[in-house]
Amino acid sequence: MNIIRNSGNKIVLAVEQLFNKIFGNQLNPFYHLGSLTFYFFWIVLVSGIYVFIAFETNLAGAYNSVEYMTNEQWWLAGIMRSLHRYASDAAIITIFLHMVREFCRDHYRGVRWFSWFTGVPTLWMVVMLGISGYWLVWDMLAQYIAITTAELIDWIPMVPGSMVFNFLEGNVSDRFFTLMAFLHLLGLPVALVFLLWTHVSRISQIDFYPPRLLAWGSLIALILLSLIKPAVSHGPAQLDHSPTVLHLDWFYLNIYPLVDILGAGWAWGIASGVTLFLLAMPWLPPRGEKPRAEVNLEHCSGCGQCAQDCPYGAITMQRRTDGRKFEFESSMEDSLCTSCGICTGSCASANPFRMAKEVLKAGIEMPWYGAEDLRRITQEKLSALTTQPRVIVYGCENSLDFSVLDGLGCAVQVVPCSGMLPPSLLDFALKRGADGVVVTGCREGDCFHRFGNRWTIARLDGTREPHLFARTDQRKIVRFWGGRSESQEMQALVRSFRDGIKKEGLPHA
Ligand code: HEM
Repeated sequence: MNIIRNSGNKIVLAVEQLFNKIFGNQLNPFYHLGSLTFYFFWIVLVSGIYVFIAFETNLAGAYNSVEYMTNEQWWLAGIMRSLHRYASDAAIITIFLHMVREFCRDHYRGVRWFSWFTGVPTLWMVVMLGISGYWLVWDMLAQYIAITTAELIDWIPMVPGSMVFNFLEGNVSDRFFTLMAFLHLLGLPVALVFLLWTHVSRISQIDFYPPRLLAWGSLIALILLSLIKPAVSHGPAQLDHSPTVLHLDWFYLNIYPLVDILGAGWAWGIASGVTLFLLAMPWLPPRGEKPRAEVNLEHCSGCGQCAQDCPYGAITMQRRTDGRKFEFESSMEDSLCTSCGICTGSCASANPFRMAKEVLKAGIEMPWYGAEDLRRITQEKLSALTTQPRVIVYGCENSLDFSVLDGLGCAVQVVPCSGMLPPSLLDFALKRGADGVVVTGCREGDCFHRFGNRWTIARLDGTREPHLFARTDQRKIVRFWGGRSESQEMQALVRSFRDGIKKEGLPHA
């Protein structure tokens, strides 16, 4: 599994790098697959409401009402019908890519198992919604779906009677059709909303909407597609005729040919096997977990910045329990913590100039890499640097390959996430003899821990607490954001930064 994931990650990073060049980091669709899916659901909902107004929910009228939309009122109802279909297809594509991406980026194991696990039934729910939608057109394709679905249901030993027999005998009633309409219009959508809510319930500050330009671009593309290739029906359903040529929507209906070729038993077996495998993936093998962040109450002022910055809502603020003058204190929910250390970067108490002669403690930090470790390692790395100018590179362990800096004569301190760096640490490094500091991390818009580089950029820009001291010479700090494939570019930046310092000879802070 590790080999597949690592190879997949290389491909994902390469494709995303290409898209970054075309769209820029902010508009790269791969960084917005979840929110794009939500957006397509909105298009499906709005177009679906319009289509429903013109739709007749009975056997006799369904087909004609859909045909009317496509042929007579093609300029509005027809486009709405096509939008409904194509936005559904677009959603299944983004869901699939989202799933593959979360797997390749190793976002599906450990604490993150929950989002993965709940994503699997969500995917099936979307597929069932699509299938029930095709059923409602009541054309030859719907007839094929109805009969094959009945075959699938009949295969289950616990279901009494034969559904297929009803179809073959032409015994499909309006009540049955209304049941399908109810499932498509209300039952399944409500279940989907509930599943989606569960899916994202352990993630904080979710972008439910993609960037505006991406949203408009996708909508325009779908409208153009609807005009160029409008969604059409097959001939009307005739239960006494077998459909001959069918144009399947492979995004939603791929299981049906399986039933035809292999039979219902095999189709059930494959679908259940794939589902069980997907559900079990977070534990095949499980991710080695690091100890979670801990609150050090005596150093927590209850400012709440860590709770605002935590990407997984693992920190909440509660009333003070230790009788100190502050109103609140941070409280940790271990099962949500990914051990990224972003909370240490948020904490004012992680300031390395504090407690100069004692062990430094932040209000919240990981027991295996706390504020004291950040300070101590920086000091050790700088003391060991013999070459001039003295440059220290802070590296995020999930981004670049820092071995490319070997032999360059700079110090490298690797941290779990760039968001773990309190800005005061950079000033501290400069005060302790560094001539320059390089802060690196994942590509912009694609932090392994969701918000680490976003917060770091905002902190260094002074738009988010805690920010750099006013006295810090910003010219001595450079940033680089990239994935492994951009390691050489980072090396070039570090090299030219050092050369620049040599030439300009910036004085020590
Ligand atoms: C059905 C439609 C789906 C929608 C609308 C959706 C939406 C989202 C959104 C908005 C996020 C938060 C992303 C962020 O802000 O960082 C997310 C996270 C996630 N999704 Fe989905 N998702 C869907 C299906 C799936 C499926 C089928 C899977 C996999 C089986 C999946 C796996 C995950 C995982 C693992 C995360 C957590 C990522 C992290 O912890 O950084 N999702 N999803």
